[in-house]
Amino acid sequence: MTAPKLAITDSDPSSTTADAVVVGTVQGPDGLALAAGSEAVNAAFDGALLDVLDAVGASGKAEEVVTVPALGKLAARVVLAVGLGKPADDGSVTEDQVRRASGAAARALSGRKRAVTTLSALHLGPAVEGTVMGSYSFTAYKSNKGDGPVARVDLVAPAEGNIRAHRATLKASTAIAEAVTATRDLVNTPPNDLFPASFADRAAALAKAEGLEVEILDEKALRKQGFGGILGVGGGSSRPPRLVRITYRGPKAGKKVALVGKGITFDTGGISIKPAAGMDEMTSDMGGAAAVIATVVLAAKLKYPLEVTAWAPMAENMPSGTAYRPGDVLTMYGGKTVEVLNTDAEGRLILSDAIVRACEDAPDYLIETSTLTGAQVVALGKRTAGVMGTEEFRDRVAAIGRAVGEQAWAMPLPDELRGDLDSKVADLANVAGHRFGGMLAAGVFLREFVAEGVTWAHIDVAGPSFHTGGPYGYTTKGGTGVPVRTMAAVLADIAANG
Ligand code: BES
Ligand code: MN
Ligand code: ZN
Repeated sequence: MTAPKLAITDSDPSSTTADAVVVGTVQGPDGLALAAGSEAVNAAFDGALLDVLDAVGASGKAEEVVTVPALGKLAARVVLAVGLGKPADDGSVTEDQVRRASGAAARALSGRKRAVTTLSALHLGPAVEGTVMGSYSFTAYKSNKGDGPVARVDLVAPAEGNIRAHRATLKASTAIAEAVTATRDLVNTPPNDLFPASFADRAAALAKAEGLEVEILDEKALRKQGFGGILGVGGGSSRPPRLVRITYRGPKAGKKVALVGKGITFDTGGISIKPAAGMDEMTSDMGGAAAVIATVVLAAKLKYPLEVTAWAPMAENMPSGTAYRPGDVLTMYGGKTVEVLNTDAEGRLILSDAIVRACEDAPDYLIETSTLTGAQVVALGKRTAGVMGTEEFRDRVAAIGRAVGEQAWAMPLPDELRGDLDSKVADLANVAGHRFGGMLAAGVFLREFVAEGVTWAHIDVAGPSFHTGGPYGYTTKGGTGVPVRTMAAVLADIAANG
């Protein structure tokens, strides 16, 4: 995927030669209204831009795209008016309103050579992120690659702040959006090409490009060190498992953060096999691993004053003569034993190995993310992640997620569910004997493996990490890159506030 070339401009958008000028519209208290930033374009239309847009049916509702010809009034050929939705009482719009509108505009502009956007005058960083994320398409396996993204977008600078600050925002927001698109690329790569060894190689390549330290444990090293969860889950596949560690050490001694992500390159369910319908979606069961890999690389690009280590356990969950069975007892890394009652509850098994290993390095914070349970989707829907863990940190992560436009909601870890994971033969079982609170039960299972005193959060992104419908806002089909922007913002918050 090639992203559009972005530049900040302080020239008048009405005199910029381009295929299109993007302006924002809102659903104001009295109906359609122009968003701030559109003044120069409106002036070039002799103040009649609102009338023109109204005449062709624009309403200002979120993501509505209306195009009108400029008829020589502008250096650009058309005005592309994109809806931001309802503004706040004071007339302001949120960052995510700008991100979504920029994504919708970017999609509408695909194939064009050059656009100039005024949405950046509202919120520069979100306009950059929305433009890059909305331009994304995954065409690696298509003979016909389609139009491709708009080649170049000039972003009108906000009135406040100076050009140096704007350039820094452009750079940071571009890096954040590219971490999202790198995650999407990994998720969208099919499992015949993305299996544990090839996934580990791609992770290493991304990390080494930023000069980061990488360690890959192959099946022999995993056996030697006793990673029974990863080996158990990976045992059914002809393509053996891996554990990838990527470490970034920031410029100043800061907090130590461990990121852990689920890397099941394909989840058939194993011997507890899944039904055929929809099984293809389990190509996305490595979205957590992809997200933590992209996030540690991003932390390095943005030079966060932190030490960040990403842990990505990778395995393919397959049924075969060598597969682990319901009834097996696995000895996990660190020595706890787990009775496997359902081989489709495999994520928690590879994650707990990685969590125990990550905790050996005594991180100040541990953030783990995974496409862990169908119950997450039942409880919160396709677009809202469930966040569990240490209460205060859980709430902080969920609030930061919402602030960056990745919907997230704090969920409890009820103590009584621990008893439901008791096993007759082992320290615990990998599933409760019932379906109630399935997302929470998985979190309670993981809690057993987090070391005493480590502040942690578990983000279940079973729904939000993969999008099967048509594109909306900056979300395109397939991998979404959730929760990369949440984790990046949490890291920034830890760097700033401890
Ligand atoms: N990878 C799935 C969870 C999932 C489901 C992700 C739907 C994305 C969309 C996970 O490994 C799984 O199979 N979980 C089981 C757990 C159950 C056996 C306790 C589930 O949710 O059914
Ligand atoms: Mn499963
Ligand atoms: Zn899974």
